[in-house]
Amino acid sequence: MTEPDGGIRVAALDDISEGEGLAISSEITGTEDDIAILRDLDGSCWALNDTCTHAQASLADGWVEDGYVECPVHSSRFCLRDGHVDGPPATVDTVPHRVEVREGEIYLFPNQRP
Ligand code: FES
Repeated sequence: MTEPDGGIRVAALDDISEGEGLAISSEITGTEDDIAILRDLDGSCWALNDTCTHAQASLADGWVEDGYVECPVHSSRFCLRDGHVDGPPATVDTVPHRVEVREGEIYLFPNQRP
């Protein structure tokens, strides 16, 4: 569902447990890559390009903790706030996107900076 301001409702907050993620198809987001909605242990929500910049892994399947998501394949970490890579083997930052939580629903703003 698209909102007048361009946000896309992608999930209910309760659909994503703290520490986990959910991949949203590029067919819904209109972006080149799928987008991972990631929920930190403090309950906050973030969005990054879903495909790891190192190889074909879904960051939505990774582990979210203390402001970072850890790739499930080779364990590079990416900052939830700005997408910067923290630790090899990945060397390329990923792309963050803006999300908002309103009344228990998560809205994604593809290609807008958080
Ligand atoms: S696929 Fe993510 S670090 Fe290798």
